[in-house]
Amino acid sequence: MKASRYDIFMYGSIIGVPVLLILITIGLYLGGGYAYTVTVLAALLVLTLVVFAATGIKEIYIHRTYPGSRKVFGRGTDEHASTKPKVRKGEEVDIVLDRFNNETSKMDTKTYKFYADRLTTVLGAILDIKAYQDNTVSIRCNCRMGICGSCGVVVNGKPRLACETNLLNAVENRRVRVSPMLGHPLLKDMANNFEDFFEKHRSVEPFLYREDERERESARHEYGQGSEDLSRFLPYSYCIMCGLCLDACPVVNSNPNFAGPQALSQVWRYYADSRDQKGKKRLFDVDTEEGAWGCEFSGSCSKACPKGVGPASAIQMMKGELMKRIFEDK
Ligand code: SF4
Ligand code: FES
Repeated sequence: MKASRYDIFMYGSIIGVPVLLILITIGLYLGGGYAYTVTVLAALLVLTLVVFAATGIKEIYIHRTYPGSRKVFGRGTDEHASTKPKVRKGEEVDIVLDRFNNETSKMDTKTYKFYADRLTTVLGAILDIKAYQDNTVSIRCNCRMGICGSCGVVVNGKPRLACETNLLNAVENRRVRVSPMLGHPLLKDMANNFEDFFEKHRSVEPFLYREDERERESARHEYGQGSEDLSRFLPYSYCIMCGLCLDACPVVNSNPNFAGPQALSQVWRYYADSRDQKGKKRLFDVDTEEGAWGCEFSGSCSKACPKGVGPASAIQMMKGELMKRIFEDK
C-alpha cells in the first residue's frame, strides 16, 4: 500500500519525536546549557530536513478525516493530488470556461489566461478572472472551504467542488476546462438553479421524527446513542447538498423525476438513526420506480461525492430492507 503524505508525515513524527527526546536527555546528561540547547535544535533541524528530503515532502497539506467516511479531505487532496502538477507555479495556463448564456440559452466558450500558483484552486482562479479580467463571469460560491456545497462545477469532465480542486493538479495539456453541472437547470454561466434539488431533499422529510408531538418542538431528555448507533448513519450525515451526485447520476440525467442519490441517501440517514421514530414508513415512501428502485447502481454518485457520503451504498441497503417486506408479508 502506498503511504500518503499524511502517513509519511505522521510516521516521520513518530520516529523524530523520540529521537529528539533522546538528544535532549543526552544534552542534559552532559551538563545542559546554551551549547547543548543549540546542538539539540541543530540536530532537530537536520533530522527534519532528512525526513523531508527522504520522503519528498515539499509542502504540508492540512488533512482532515471524518469518522465513518472513507475520504480524506483538504485542499490538495483531490484525486489528482498524488500526481505531479503538469505545469510549474507561475506558468501560464488556459482556463476554458463553458458559460451558459441565459439570453440565448446556449453555451458560450471563452478562454482566459491565468498565471497559476501552487495553492490556487479552480474557484480561486475563476474569482480572480472575475475580479481582473471579466466581471460578467458567474459562479455560485460561499465558504471557499468545501463546506457550503455551493461551488459544484464540472472540471475536465468530472463533477467537483471548484473550491477543493487544486488548479495546477487539474491542468491537462496546459489548460483546465470548467463547465456548469448539466444535471441541474442552468441560471447563468456556471450557476445552477437548485430549486428542484432542494424540493427533492425536502420531500423526504430530512429531520428526526418523534411520535410524541411535544418532543417535536423541544427535546424532553437526552437521546443517548452508542458508537454502533452512530456508525449506522454518520457517513450519510456529511452531505453538504452540493448536488454533484445528481449531476453524475445517469438516471437523473435521463429521468428528472427520479428522487436522486442525495434525497435517497437522506432517507437512509434518518431511517438508520435510532432517535427517529418514523421507522420503515420512510422506506415505503420511496418504494417506487422513481424512488429507490429507479437506481441502476452505476455508483457514479458515490464516486463524485466530495464528502464520502456514499449514496449508492445507502440506496442498496434500502433496497435490501424493502426486499425483506416481501418475506414479512408472506
Ligand atoms: S451526497 Fe455527496 S455529492 Fe451528493 S449532495 Fe451530498 S455531499 Fe454532495
Ligand atoms: S464555496 Fe463552499 S463548498 Fe465550495
